[in-house]
Amino acid sequence: MNASFLDHAFDLSFPEQLDPKSIAYLNGEFLALEEAKVSVLDRGFLFADGIYEVVPVYRRNPFLWKNHLRRLVRSLAAIQLACPLSEEDWTELVHQMIEHQPFDDQFIYLQITRGSARRDHAFPQKLRPTVFAMATEFHRPGQADRENGLKAITVDDERWLRCDIKSVALLANVLARQKAVEQGAHEAILIRDGVVTEGASSNIWLVVAGELLGHPRNNLALEGIRYGLIEELAKGCGLKLSLRERSPDDLARASEVLLSSATKELLAITSINQAPVAQGQPGPVFQKLRAAYDKAIEMQCPRAQLAKAASPTG
Ligand code: PDD
Repeated sequence: MNASFLDHAFDLSFPEQLDPKSIAYLNGEFLALEEAKVSVLDRGFLFADGIYEVVPVYRRNPFLWKNHLRRLVRSLAAIQLACPLSEEDWTELVHQMIEHQPFDDQFIYLQITRGSARRDHAFPQKLRPTVFAMATEFHRPGQADRENGLKAITVDDERWLRCDIKSVALLANVLARQKAVEQGAHEAILIRDGVVTEGASSNIWLVVAGELLGHPRNNLALEGIRYGLIEELAKGCGLKLSLRERSPDDLARASEVLLSSATKELLAITSINQAPVAQGQPGPVFQKLRAAYDKAIEMQCPRAQLAKAASPTG
């Protein structure tokens, strides 16, 4: 077969936002991202049989790392995949990844799949899991996003019933967010059976009658690492927070809608389905929590770490 018969139709270059020489990790080895290759028989490729984490790093400090590690271990247990590294080794891996990158603010992406085997839905025991990590530069949400907020649309939540697992099986999330992007929005807010669950790649918070409302910790949404943080920050700001099911009516009457994730941190959603949320501006609850979020980063990711990590012996 002519190996290049499809080439003319597709862009085959390395994704331009990624540095092909940036250092990645694959199964015990640090190597250039462009050199990292996995088998076509990898169950991650064939079945999306794996889990992942996205860890934000500020000034070379992994933010809330212990919580990410706990969720990673929980996700592995939930899919019956024996944790391939000890907690110390995960921590060491993340620190080494950070040190290998030229940027101070970054994301470490970790993915663990069940490994390669003859294709069969049921999995053989004793497979060697594939452990992969890569880093990308973190361009934090800028002033414009903070001041204007983001646009969202609502879509049906068509995912499976274990959304609490940080699974790489993200097709329904992918399609929901693509729909948002095609409609000029940043995020899709998912609604299942009359319940606002979360965003396609974020958690959604509503302010209703002065109270901050989040989805309960259950199987219908991913408990973001920002859950615990926002609970803590809300307490510190004297805001009442409840985790309870929110209806589309709650969404319609919310005075503020917020979104949180590792990559978006905490931002306001100021328009939904092309209609403004309240006055169409980020509100006072957002302003308070946003300031507290920045302070938490300042406190937990001190500049001191930068000097240490940047030194050749650090
Ligand atoms: N997504 N819910 C979903 C479905 C998510 O994909 C994410 C994060 C969150 C927020 O989780 P956290 O606060 O731990 O980032 C909630 C990541 C960033 C991603 O897939 O890229």
